[in-house]
Amino acid sequence: MKSQLLSINDLSTADIHSILSTAAELERITDGPTKKLPTLRGRTVVNLFFEDSTRTRISFETAAKRLSADVINFSAKGSSVSKGESLKDTAQTLQAMGADAVVIRHGSSGAAQRLADSGWISATVINAGDGTHEHPTQALLDAFTISKSFPDRKSDFSGLRVAIVGDILHSRVARSNVLLLSKLGASVTLIAPPTLLPVGVETWPVKISYNMDEQLEEFDVVMMLRIQIERMSNFFFPSEREYSRQYGLNEERLLRMKKSAIVMHPGPMNRGLEISASSADSSRSVIVDQVGNGVLTRMAVLYLLLGGAALTEVGQ
Ligand code: CP
Repeated sequence: MKSQLLSINDLSTADIHSILSTAAELERITDGPTKKLPTLRGRTVVNLFFEDSTRTRISFETAAKRLSADVINFSAKGSSVSKGESLKDTAQTLQAMGADAVVIRHGSSGAAQRLADSGWISATVINAGDGTHEHPTQALLDAFTISKSFPDRKSDFSGLRVAIVGDILHSRVARSNVLLLSKLGASVTLIAPPTLLPVGVETWPVKISYNMDEQLEEFDVVMMLRIQIERMSNFFFPSEREYSRQYGLNEERLLRMKKSAIVMHPGPMNRGLEISASSADSSRSVIVDQVGNGVLTRMAVLYLLLGGAALTEVGQ
């Protein structure tokens, strides 16, 4: 496995299998009396967040602490970034505090790559979401959630039909999921209005549909995406009501899905826009499970990238 995680393209299929099986092993160990493992004792993980986050920041913090690492949380709000301090100076300041891993979220696509390539720091860089580019650990936790929902498949998703619905244009989650799900053999269909699909999407390994109702009965996984109003400088659909009518997951659509199909959403949700409250809270929804699986998956990523002590030795 490469020493950084900036994109799903950094991972081979074997790496992905290794992360998912390590997350499963960590779940098995931490379900027992051992909640905290000493495997990263003495290591320091810095969460460097230039954009807001609830799930990703808290789950990386929880993951690092469960592996006994020291954690430094940095949020651009309230820091010297607001006085104009650069990414380089901020990163070097944190490196001087002994960071072994820097988990970075940034509003600019490519920021994580820039940090990793710059030579400014020697720490392992993990991309926690960069602009509209990628969010690799979200895709990994989504794959872990799917593998738990379809246990017969383990992490071979051949023939599994996944719909990713909504604001593909602004979604780093969609980009990472398309790469990862394709590597695991799933058939991915993007469903969105043409205005919310990126230029060049026809070169992605996906099918495209503009109609939410066309093949809904055939999907095993329906992954709804948040409408990212904060990244929209233009009008991409006539009204929220119209969008919701055409592309929202509601009770009626939920009833038409396969009995075994699951509903996913990376969060945060716009309830009543891309997903109704009853769909989000239904028995098919694994949205809350995704959050819990995020901790296990990020534990696996930190453990494997930082070369922690063997789990079999410390988990007993
Ligand atoms: N899914 C996700 O990245 O959520 P947060 O923005 O809350 O971290």
